[in-house]
Amino acid sequence: MSRGVRVAIAGTGFIGAVHARSARLAGASLVGVAASSPESARRAQAALGAERAFDSAEEMVTADGIDVVHICTPNNLHVPLAEAALAAGKHVILEKPIAMDALSAQTITDAAQDAGRIAAVPFVYRYYPTVREARERVRTGETGPIRLIHGTYLQDWLLKATDDNWRVETDLGGASRAFADIGSHWCDLAEFVTGHRITRLCARTKTAVAERIKSEAHAAFSSVNGAGESRAVGTEDAAIVQFETDQGAVGSTVISQISAGRKNRLWLEVDGAEEALQFCQEEPEELWVGKREYAKLIKRDPEHLSAAAQRYAVLPPGHPQGYADCFDAFVAEVYEAIETGAPADGMPQFADGLRAANLTDAVLRSAREERWVDVSIEAAGVAG
Ligand SMILES: NC(=O)c1ccc[n+]([C@@H]2O[C@H](COP(=O)([O-])OP(=O)(O)OC[C@H]3O[C@@H](n4cnc5c(N)ncnc54)[C@H](O)[C@@H]3O)[C@@H](O)[C@H]2O)c1
Repeated sequence: MSRGVRVAIAGTGFIGAVHARSARLAGASLVGVAASSPESARRAQAALGAERAFDSAEEMVTADGIDVVHICTPNNLHVPLAEAALAAGKHVILEKPIAMDALSAQTITDAAQDAGRIAAVPFVYRYYPTVREARERVRTGETGPIRLIHGTYLQDWLLKATDDNWRVETDLGGASRAFADIGSHWCDLAEFVTGHRITRLCARTKTAVAERIKSEAHAAFSSVNGAGESRAVGTEDAAIVQFETDQGAVGSTVISQISAGRKNRLWLEVDGAEEALQFCQEEPEELWVGKREYAKLIKRDPEHLSAAAQRYAVLPPGHPQGYADCFDAFVAEVYEAIETGAPADGMPQFADGLRAANLTDAVLRSAREERWVDVSIEAAGVAG
């Protein structure tokens, strides 16, 4: 439990409210919130129980009496708000994607490094105990050398032309939508579990819904349900990526926000020489382990997990843990790092956000140029 950390949250929509809950649970004081207008900040203040509603996020992130700023706004505000907060000496939790492109992601990562502050990114799927168990099996060699890494991240909340959100607009969300928004999570998890790095990739993107009905509300995970003005869509609904890794594995992933019936299906399979591992975000209480002779399910039972996974198993078996618990564990760990100055093993930081931005750049470039691209060199915008 973190005591006495003074927290401010910019952006109080879907994920801002999740951050607020986790902050409270970690024992922090929620001293301020800011939203898209002073009125909505006041509504959020009441709903989330914050001490103060700020008129603007810009004012809040540099205000006195705040130790850590959580930036949970639309993507276009991530870099300017994080830059201002770091310059004012705050620690920062910055939502993914940390920037609208790889070069800005590099700039903000360098700024955090220079400022010497804790700078974290909520790649929270890392906090499922079964994910840690998978990572531990790979790390100890039980899985054997990894040959294949594959999976999907499927959602359906942007299936129809009446589904709209700020993420659809390049000005607010960035040039990539589906990949930057959820493909970034899949790649982070795949690299986190395996320890491999994607070095080359070949991608196709698809904008299946070419026009959408513009929504004023812009609410995430909801439909417009009405006739409004229609506008052209400039961001992808789906991406298909083939890749190679630095340790000789090959893999593929399908990323989609238009797969009917799939709500938040992050599914990852890792095929090693000794066994295969499979994790599914919608059934996170179990890790599937496949051997040639048999397959088994490892349940999230703290008594029988590795120490690395046990640390995150806070409830007895049969009492399901989920997404919110991952967020709670992540936020508590960041506050602990603020207090001790030492981030725990696996705590996702700006460098991981930069990694995701580099991968996103590579995916867009590969799709545009219809060819394989090198991630580390070409995606970072470095000549080579
Ligand atoms: N880590 C995760 O698992 C995860 C999950 C969901 C969203 N996210 C990220 O969190 C961010 C927010 O996503 P969301 O789904 O909560 O969106 P949302 O639309 O639900 O919320 C965005 C919030 O930002 C506020 N906002 C808009 N303009 C603002 C401004 N100028 N100043 C201050 N606040 C402003 C809005 O009022 C709204 O409260 C995105 O970057 C998204 O990628 C991450």
